[in-house]
Amino acid sequence: MTDVKKLIAQMTLEEKASLLGGDDFWHTKAVERLGIPRFMMSDGPHGLRKQDQEGDHLGINDSIKAVCFPAACATASSFDTDMIEKMGETIGDECQAEDLAVVLGPAVNIKRSPLCGRNFEYFSEDPYLAGKMAAAYISGVQSKHVGTSIKHFALNDQETNRMNISAEASERTIREIYFPAFEIAVKESQPKTVMCSYNKINGTYSSDNEWLLNKVLREDWGFQGAVMTDWGAVDDRVQGVKAGLELEMPGNTKANDKKIVDAVKSGALDEKLVDRAVERLLTVMYDHYDNRVGGTFDRDRDHEAAEKVEENCAVLLQNNGILPLKEGQKIAYIGEYAEKPRYQGGGSSHINSSKVVSALDAAKAAGRAVTYVKGFPADKDEENAKELNKAVEAAKAADVAVIFAGLPDVIESEGYDRKNMKMPACQVKLIEEIAKVQKNVVVVLHNGSPIEAPWAGDVAAILEMYLGGQAVGTAEDHLLYGIANPSGHLAETFPMKLEDNPSYLNFPGDSYKVHYQEGVFVGYRYYDTKKMPVRWAFGHGLSYTTFEVKNLRVDKSEMTDGDVLTASVDVTNTGSRQGKEVVQLYISDRTGTTGRPEKELKGFAKVDLAPGETKTVTFAIDRRALSYFEERLGDWYAASGTYELQAGDSSDHITATAEIHFTTEVELPLHVAGDTTIGQLLSNQKTAAVVQKLFSQMNPLGGQDAKKDDPDARLGAGEEEMNKAMMLYMPLKSLISFGVMNGEQLEGLIATLNKVVED
Ligand code: BGC
Repeated sequence: MTDVKKLIAQMTLEEKASLLGGDDFWHTKAVERLGIPRFMMSDGPHGLRKQDQEGDHLGINDSIKAVCFPAACATASSFDTDMIEKMGETIGDECQAEDLAVVLGPAVNIKRSPLCGRNFEYFSEDPYLAGKMAAAYISGVQSKHVGTSIKHFALNDQETNRMNISAEASERTIREIYFPAFEIAVKESQPKTVMCSYNKINGTYSSDNEWLLNKVLREDWGFQGAVMTDWGAVDDRVQGVKAGLELEMPGNTKANDKKIVDAVKSGALDEKLVDRAVERLLTVMYDHYDNRVGGTFDRDRDHEAAEKVEENCAVLLQNNGILPLKEGQKIAYIGEYAEKPRYQGGGSSHINSSKVVSALDAAKAAGRAVTYVKGFPADKDEENAKELNKAVEAAKAADVAVIFAGLPDVIESEGYDRKNMKMPACQVKLIEEIAKVQKNVVVVLHNGSPIEAPWAGDVAAILEMYLGGQAVGTAEDHLLYGIANPSGHLAETFPMKLEDNPSYLNFPGDSYKVHYQEGVFVGYRYYDTKKMPVRWAFGHGLSYTTFEVKNLRVDKSEMTDGDVLTASVDVTNTGSRQGKEVVQLYISDRTGTTGRPEKELKGFAKVDLAPGETKTVTFAIDRRALSYFEERLGDWYAASGTYELQAGDSSDHITATAEIHFTTEVELPLHVAGDTTIGQLLSNQKTAAVVQKLFSQMNPLGGQDAKKDDPDARLGAGEEEMNKAMMLYMPLKSLISFGVMNGEQLEGLIATLNKVVED
């Protein structure tokens, strides 16, 4: 193995600085004198975008022919960590064959708004799911000695002004919603690199954000690898080195390399920090270089793999029994996506696919006698009366009309956000017109993020393919005809309409700032807490068989800080064909702590079951799973009290629950002063005892003479309740106004209480 430290010891300051900036779009710089080569990386993450010729970061110039797997919007819906790990292994093998040291992904930003142009590249609105999928993908790729670059760290949740906007959010919001996907991946899989985002976080660019890179990423989570900028995201290069940024990308870094050299020479930057950065970077690169195995990139084999992945991802949103299609039915395929599927998104993840199979190609290969009418164009919103009429006639003449719909490329892409959540009007009109003449309508969707579906009630079935990769047509054929059984579940909510989304009033902000006012109430955390009807809930997905999730139990119902509890739940295939169910475990805080979402996903499993078969799924629950980020502590905290575990197959279909009781020794910090309320004192174990004792002797609202044992002064039950409730919000200083004590006594009480807190 290459001795990186030894290499660094032989380098000049200039050589070291040069290694901290890219050579061109895809390479680091070489140091020929010492035999250090240029290392290459390439976009992905759902396939390779290796550009041999002219580089660009927007997917404009051609790259080598590669295999386009389903995008993250689809793979997340599989809820299948084994599957995505395997997909990572395949991509790792491809990188080995192409001698790529790092593949630039996975992308795990949170789907805060359905409008984000890059939602198709991101996994979920839920950080736990995004983190688990990312960790598995990273393990897969890195098992082949190819690095990954989890991106974009952090809060790059929109494309509008992505290069300069400041995402303004509370630390709690960041730690609970926007960090955990990165945190889980770092702790479980140690990605070789992290790509920091373009944007600022609360006013500081990610690329020179000391708190983000040194404190959170390295100190709190133990990240061992190297940090690189997103392409062109560098801000203050010298501050970046101090803050924990190793590599500036892409090329054109000579001026910044010199700034690093000058800063060391002037004493503004410690050379040790430069050495540290070079060591981190070269360690990543040599892990690949020293373990190169080459191999061949077998595109046909990997195409097959991409097809299997997509079968596991597609989500059956609705079905009245029309699907799977039956032998002998007359089927009409309508909509240009049947011929030209939209199977990937635009921008830096764009892959030059080795081949593409459409649903029509697949039907032909399978010898199916389907009729086809274009109906509407796949690439724009343009109504054509003649085509529409032809489509209506074809639908009338068939037993089942399958409409291949979706979002054109121009509507969603890297670089800009969507303007609304609607499907092209020409497609909506066609669906509505066909539904008037044909009751058996199946809609197959090709989109990277949610759409409004006011027509859903008029059709018999809806199959969400998302952006299903280059083999999408075969997967469609298999799913529609029941060769494969749908098993995807939504990794995001489909709200009824855009205005229901919690970020609606604050997305995408102005040119300078975007305020994350909805806080932790993102996706189902908001809709569930608000009890707001949605079109399709987070976690929802149907199958051609049926399942039952029941009998949730825990190995102990009392839990304290260091305990890990095991929850088990049974899942049975109650239908007549083999299928896979996604069992989900949510936790609901019932301690009375305010500002917590109704429920949060804390475990999931994909289970394959034969008809009649039952399996038991287990989940480990620790204190963190019950916790929220408590800013007063600067740490995770779960209050003592009751928590409900909820198991089901969707966030809106919980079929088994169990209660546990948690007790913590952690005390929230408290400094008692005149405006500290009785309620605050009662919720602190130490002060509660003092306050209870004091008030058992007096009734502050009734005056000092209202003694407990005087029957005439005793309050009725209802009044007593009211009195207690009012007292909770009473600050200590009011005890003077109500004549309970004088100023001097109050000072004494405050001093006693503070002493009790400190002891
Ligand atoms: C994107 C990254 C990508 C990089 C290189 C940037 O514009 O945000 O996700 O990896 O370009 O293409």
